[in-house]
Amino acid sequence: MLTVEEAGRVFTDPTAYADDERFHAACALLRREAPVHRVEVEGFNPFWAITKHADVMEIERQHDLWLNEPRPILGPAVSDEQQRQMNMTIRTLISIDAPDHPLMRAITADWFLPKSLSRLDDRIAELAKRYVDLMADLGGECDFMPDVAAKYPLYVILSILGLPEDDFPLIMKLTQELFGASDPDMQRGATPEEAFATIQEFFQYFLAVTEDRRANPTEDLASVIANATLHGEPLTIFDAFGYYLIIATAGHDTTSSSIAGGLHALLQFPDQLERLRKDPSLVTPAIDEMIRWVSPVKQFMRTNLTGDYVLRGQTIPKGEAVLLSYASANRDEEVFGDAGTFDVGRTPNKHVAFGFGAHYCLGAQLARMEGRAFYNELIPRLESIELAGDPAYIQTLFVGGPKHLPIRYKIS
Ligand code: HEM
Repeated sequence: MLTVEEAGRVFTDPTAYADDERFHAACALLRREAPVHRVEVEGFNPFWAITKHADVMEIERQHDLWLNEPRPILGPAVSDEQQRQMNMTIRTLISIDAPDHPLMRAITADWFLPKSLSRLDDRIAELAKRYVDLMADLGGECDFMPDVAAKYPLYVILSILGLPEDDFPLIMKLTQELFGASDPDMQRGATPEEAFATIQEFFQYFLAVTEDRRANPTEDLASVIANATLHGEPLTIFDAFGYYLIIATAGHDTTSSSIAGGLHALLQFPDQLERLRKDPSLVTPAIDEMIRWVSPVKQFMRTNLTGDYVLRGQTIPKGEAVLLSYASANRDEEVFGDAGTFDVGRTPNKHVAFGFGAHYCLGAQLARMEGRAFYNELIPRLESIELAGDPAYIQTLFVGGPKHLPIRYKIS
């Protein structure tokens, strides 16, 4: 029998996220028996695991009490210190709070509004077609994650930033090293110094982009960032870098994981694939269900810097941090009927996979558009599909989804 203590350790164990059944069994136990649970594991600074949907929202809603600084993402204790030091120089939207957060967010917020994004409809549909055509060219068999899903959102986001296609493979490699840092297959190296080398390589790349866009501004998002101001001064090179980094990285591994994890779910629930084929209008709710199901961003953290906080009778002392488990909240039986069933018609779908409140995902509409464009292209052309091997999921503490999804299919 799994104990509450054991269940709490899934959040510090990268292999747990690669094992859906084990992970969700642990979260279900925590939601039932210890929804506000203090986790103490060697090698990690202690934190409180928040596993209920209502509690994630309660904390995120109060962004004046619960701060992203200084520990926005759970990692081993050594990386907490690194995060703290790095966040003091390279600030990203995720690592900062008011008063600068809303000002920094406003720099690009208009770009991500549905009205502005609608001008990208044709470009995204064209890219979706390119990748479904690629599936056809691959001759009826591929590893869907690396061959298709990982590339398509990267093309979308880097096209928006305005970066040249020749650079896409480099950015893909660096992002995967950064986000896949807990997976032995993806690591650049085992030491924190080696992981830091990835950041430095990113920095050199975006430094050149900033210099170029400051000298020759264009209409792209990279120019908006390079030429933005904060408190009347141009963004520091470090703030500009933090901005590129968050957009370039947050914009694709997440979306590709939901597209690939969504396809895996359609294979596990073939009746849902059949429903989609019969009624293409279900693609819209299906995309949100895929995002709920996969919850590619597993967690963010908040730190209680203002005073003791009581949640469900537990006192979280001032100075301690909470882990908001989006992956668990999105299976909360109190919010989702049949939470463990993949239902392409689920409406409403109040998932918190994009977070909530002041830091709500800037790219949520873009991610939905990308998913819709892809499945609107794929579903009508798909004659048959089946697994051609065992899928494998990324070992991670933060962002993840399928690493391998071997499929066999007929496509027109
Ligand atoms: C399915 C895909 C995606 C998921 C599940 C996802 C999830 C999230 C989550 C959970 C947060 C933190 C929210 C919070 O703290 O309340 C976030 C923030 C963010 N996301 Fe996404 N995201 C996705 C796609 C994208 C895309 C395509 C972009 C494009 C640029 C993007 C850009 C951002 C940015 C810039 C932030 C920081 C916002 C802030 O702190 O103010 N994301 N995302």
